[in-house]
Amino acid sequence: MELPKPVRNLILIGFMGCGKSSVGREIARRGSFRFFDTDAIIRRKYGKSIPEIFSIWGETVFRDEEHSVLEGLRNTRGIILATGGGIVTQSRNLPLLRQLGVVVWLTADDRTLWLRVRQNPNRPLLQTDNPRETLRKLSSERAPIYQSIADLTVDSTGLSHAEVADKILDSLQDFTDS
Ligand code: S3P
Repeated sequence: MELPKPVRNLILIGFMGCGKSSVGREIARRGSFRFFDTDAIIRRKYGKSIPEIFSIWGETVFRDEEHSVLEGLRNTRGIILATGGGIVTQSRNLPLLRQLGVVVWLTADDRTLWLRVRQNPNRPLLQTDNPRETLRKLSSERAPIYQSIADLTVDSTGLSHAEVADKILDSLQDFTDS
């Protein structure tokens, strides 16, 4: 399987729990593409988990690292990139994401996102008194930003990773044909 010719890279954006990393890995596996994940690159650099990086160095350092990862990928071609859900909160990242390739916004309804993230302590921004409300607030604040840079929007609610991957690849074909 190949990415349609005009597609430089495939960039997955969306809120925590929408499945960017799992779906990205699935697409990469199908086409033997290289897969990158901004969170994983930062975790490896620091040898720490995301919550540890937030608590030791703070969110600002994490956001600077996210930006540097995007800068470092500027010259890539043929990769699948899963991004952290907050990457769009820095406006300096938006043109970089657009330049990198076709941007796919993976969505899911808030209930689905909540069910996917609630057991997982690895999301420092959801360590609040009312994480479900925090999720609702952040996801509604960010939705217009995701939308503003997305070439394609794919809803993953109720679908397996393989089904979402199929849906993305179908939409990608339609997108490049049109
Ligand atoms: C964040 C999302 C996380 C991670 C960090 C901050 C956010 O990535 O980058 O916890 O601000 O939404 P995932 O979207 O992969 O969970």
